[in-house]
Amino acid sequence: MSTVFVAGATGALGRLVIDSLHRRGARVRALVRPGNVEGRRALDPAVEVVEGDIRDPADRLARALEGADAVISTVQGGADVIIDGQLNLLRAAEQAGVARLIPSDFSLAIDRLDYGDIDFADLRKKAAGSFAGSPVAITSVLCGAFLEVLNQPFYNWVDWESGTFSYWGDGDQPVDFSTMPDTAEWTAEAALDPAAAGRIVRVAGDVLTLRELHQAMERGSGRRLRPRRLGGVDELEAEIARLKTAGADPFAWLLLQYTWAMVSGKGKLDPLDNDRYPGVRPTTAEEFFRQAMSPSA
Ligand SMILES: NC(=O)c1ccc[n+]([C@@H]2O[C@H](COP(=O)([O-])OP(=O)(O)OC[C@H]3O[C@@H](n4cnc5c(N)ncnc54)[C@H](OP(=O)(O)O)[C@@H]3O)[C@@H](O)[C@H]2O)c1
Repeated sequence: MSTVFVAGATGALGRLVIDSLHRRGARVRALVRPGNVEGRRALDPAVEVVEGDIRDPADRLARALEGADAVISTVQGGADVIIDGQLNLLRAAEQAGVARLIPSDFSLAIDRLDYGDIDFADLRKKAAGSFAGSPVAITSVLCGAFLEVLNQPFYNWVDWESGTFSYWGDGDQPVDFSTMPDTAEWTAEAALDPAAAGRIVRVAGDVLTLRELHQAMERGSGRRLRPRRLGGVDELEAEIARLKTAGADPFAWLLLQYTWAMVSGKGKLDPLDNDRYPGVRPTTAEEFFRQAMSPSA
């Protein structure tokens, strides 16, 4: 039986990853930050909990990692967590002799993006650079955009109250979409697959242009959404630059940077590795919106 160490276990994706690992018969050891009583209580009782922080001294973390076959990180945070913290986790994994580590990437094609395209992706690119040369094999799981996230009002793509679907670009660029549970399934598969060591695993539940996404939202929800084109890719780029210069809330332009990477095609995953894990039957966007917008949801 494989043992997988999960850092970020109390987060949205981490909890799902633990479920997916258990479904595959793996033993899970989870890092929970001291004081996170609620997060700890919500974990499956089968999980072995280790209290700590990925920024703890590497010697201490290494003891917690003893005997693990793989590490999955689903942490979220700034440079101190994504770069320094994950590098510290890697050093601990080296000391403990762990073979593989999946860092908290779970994004668009960050390997194809340039520095400056998406500030959050920059952190993950820098972390990947700092991992180079480690005897621990890195597997990066890239999954496109989470449907759960872009369905949130703050993302400004869909407004169910006013019945509007707002988009940038020409609407014809294919974009990768995945649900969080499907991403957790692929992540568990990759963690338990020695052949994924040192590879990028590119997966997507659905690949749709924004016109097709709009139709999938309407079919799934059974509701009409008036399309509203906000501008072209160049205008989106100018809007991001304007918001940055004006000192706007970084959240506003960070979300637009993700949108830009999607509608420009630069963040497109290619080729997709879905066939590598035929046991994962991903949810389509239409199915996702059927479930998410059903009266009982
Ligand atoms: N592709 C997409 O559209 C998309 C969308 C959203 C997220 N993501 C990615 O998915 C990944 C997971 O995101 P999420 O939404 O699951 O995040 P989340 O719910 O905020 O969870 C983050 C987890 O990291 C833990 N953590 C933070 N700092 C830590 C530290 N120093 N030491 C140990 N644990 C620490 C948190 O612990 P506490 O509970 O104690 O705070 C929590 O368990 C991230 O890489 C994120 O960028 C992708």
